[in-house]
Amino acid sequence: MAVPTVPSLAPGDGFAVRLTDAEVTGFHEQGFLSIDRLTSEAEIAELRDIYDALFEPGAAIGKDDRLELAGNPDEAPVLPQIVNPDHYAPELLQTVAYQNAQTIARQILGEDMSPMGMHAIRKPPRDGGATPWHQDEAYWDPAMDHHAISIWMPLQPATIENGCMQFVPGTHTSEVQEHRLINPDSHGLVVTHPESVGPAVACPLPPGGATIHASRTLHYAGPNTTDQPRRALIMAFAAPPTRRATARSFPWQRPEWAS
Ligand code: NI
Repeated sequence: MAVPTVPSLAPGDGFAVRLTDAEVTGFHEQGFLSIDRLTSEAEIAELRDIYDALFEPGAAIGKDDRLELAGNPDEAPVLPQIVNPDHYAPELLQTVAYQNAQTIARQILGEDMSPMGMHAIRKPPRDGGATPWHQDEAYWDPAMDHHAISIWMPLQPATIENGCMQFVPGTHTSEVQEHRLINPDSHGLVVTHPESVGPAVACPLPPGGATIHASRTLHYAGPNTTDQPRRALIMAFAAPPTRRATARSFPWQRPEWAS
């Protein structure tokens, strides 16, 4: 099938993506989904320049929005993340990719879903570290049950070699496992017992494809061993969280995450 292209970042060019009923059912059964196309390679090519500019050392990104997930913040980036990239590049909100992501979020979460922001993780070539096994809910308020999805879109092919996403099917219905900080100076979490993680499914993607995963789905992305950066833009959405009947604590969270 020919891949349609969009001539600009303007939405509404007829490039609408909807999940099939079978895809929605598959997501709810497995806790993740991989789709070949969220937007065109043409839009991805335009986004790449915007994205790379955000990661330039001199880019005017607020201190709290520029995080290191795995390495030492004072040393060369290992797993650099920018939170709220759309605050600095609002054109990210005007993309076909974002329009389609919202459609998918409504299909999975319902009409009362809300956008929960974007983040960007750019793994440096050759020495970009792994994103170790974790569940996203481990970062969030333990008093609530969260009903959220993340839509992960690569801005170049995503492969095993550069760190495509990997998931453990069915873990979206499990409890949140024990986590710890990857290192005490970083902002990334890893499960305390990664050796017990079950068999994973790797999801290579073309540029402009996407994976979608739920709050508790165990996921991982390998190190980037290629000569090019591995760029991913992540768009998050959530239905209203619900208060838990039983208490739990997430002692691994950094104090500043409480809000
Ligand atoms: Ni994650």
